[in-house]
Amino acid sequence: MYLQELDSEKLKKLQWQIMQNVAASAIIPLMRIGDELGLFKVLADNGPCTDEEFSNLAKIDNRYGREWLLALCAAGYCSADEDVNKFHLSPEQQAVFAFEDSPALMIGAYDVLSANVHGIDSVREAFKTGEGVHYEKFHPCCFQGTARFFKPSYAANLLKKWLPKVSGVVEKLKDGGSYADIGCGFGVSTLMVAEEFPKAEVYGFDIHKPSIQKAQSIAKEARMEKRIQYTVADAKSYAGKFDVIAFFDCLHDMGDPEGAARYAFEHLNDGGVVILIEPTASDKPSENFHTIGQMYYSFSTMGCIPTSKSQEVGLALGAQAGPKKLEDILSKAGLADPKVVHRNASNMVIEARKI
Ligand SMILES: C[S@@+](CC[C@H](N)C(=O)[O-])C[C@H]1O[C@@H](n2cnc3c(N)ncnc32)[C@H](O)[C@@H]1O
Repeated sequence: MYLQELDSEKLKKLQWQIMQNVAASAIIPLMRIGDELGLFKVLADNGPCTDEEFSNLAKIDNRYGREWLLALCAAGYCSADEDVNKFHLSPEQQAVFAFEDSPALMIGAYDVLSANVHGIDSVREAFKTGEGVHYEKFHPCCFQGTARFFKPSYAANLLKKWLPKVSGVVEKLKDGGSYADIGCGFGVSTLMVAEEFPKAEVYGFDIHKPSIQKAQSIAKEARMEKRIQYTVADAKSYAGKFDVIAFFDCLHDMGDPEGAARYAFEHLNDGGVVILIEPTASDKPSENFHTIGQMYYSFSTMGCIPTSKSQEVGLALGAQAGPKKLEDILSKAGLADPKVVHRNASNMVIEARKI
């Protein structure tokens, strides 16, 4: 029998916070369904429209269509007229949900969230055994979600804000330097670098074969397949020597980040530089207790920790390791002067050099 004295004000506040989180989570499957059935695009292209017109155009059952529209309106993700007869997406709602090439697209987050729900069984077992879960075992929407979720941020920041903060990198790449993107996934960042620096030699490596295959097909679509060489390889097994070695949102996923950093040190040309993009975090966990920290610690529990534990060493740094641990890893690997050169609300850029 539960008999503890409770502070009713504190309880009410906590319960309201939970209700908000529950409501936010309840919409996850609707977002996936809407995305997969192209419902956002139908609404963007045809709104304002009635629920019947919308359902006909989307080729879905009207009762499901209407309930979906009402749920999205309640969330503020869709708009309706006063009588709730006609539905549309505002320009901002279109920008975050409907157009794949929008610089504000956020729908990919729901791919990752759905993958995490699909992963419950395997990660729950890993909680008990302490084992890892191989990245390839995750639901496929994890891989596409990562690329879609990160792409707008890379598009806004990588070339304009992040690379220019790392001293000498832009000059090296403009002059035809060599660039290796380790753990490149679908090659979102790799393609951006190859397009921006036509003289640079660009390579992408990842242990996950389906991601490398997808990166190759994206490069082909962009007519960049001759400019980028993608290879399936572990962060401790790729061949070649490079002027710039990048780890974008992946060092903390690796089982042996120090081994990967040491391997990068050995595969850098003299004067070369390692760049990490990592989720923004403080070294003190208590300073990560906020909305972004909630998201990253949750993603980390379901994705980053199991991936790292499935690999050699299994250090399991987590997505909120903080700069100190990451800089120490780079130092121990022999890299000089590791430091954070830029940070925003979601990402930090760390550089270290071979001198
Ligand atoms: C969160 S994803 C980031 C992908 C990409 N860098 C991006 O920013 O879109 C992490 C990537 O690291 C890769 N990865 C994990 N461990 C690796 C390892 N030991 N060697 C190479 N790649 C690895 C995964 O396969 C995955 O593609």
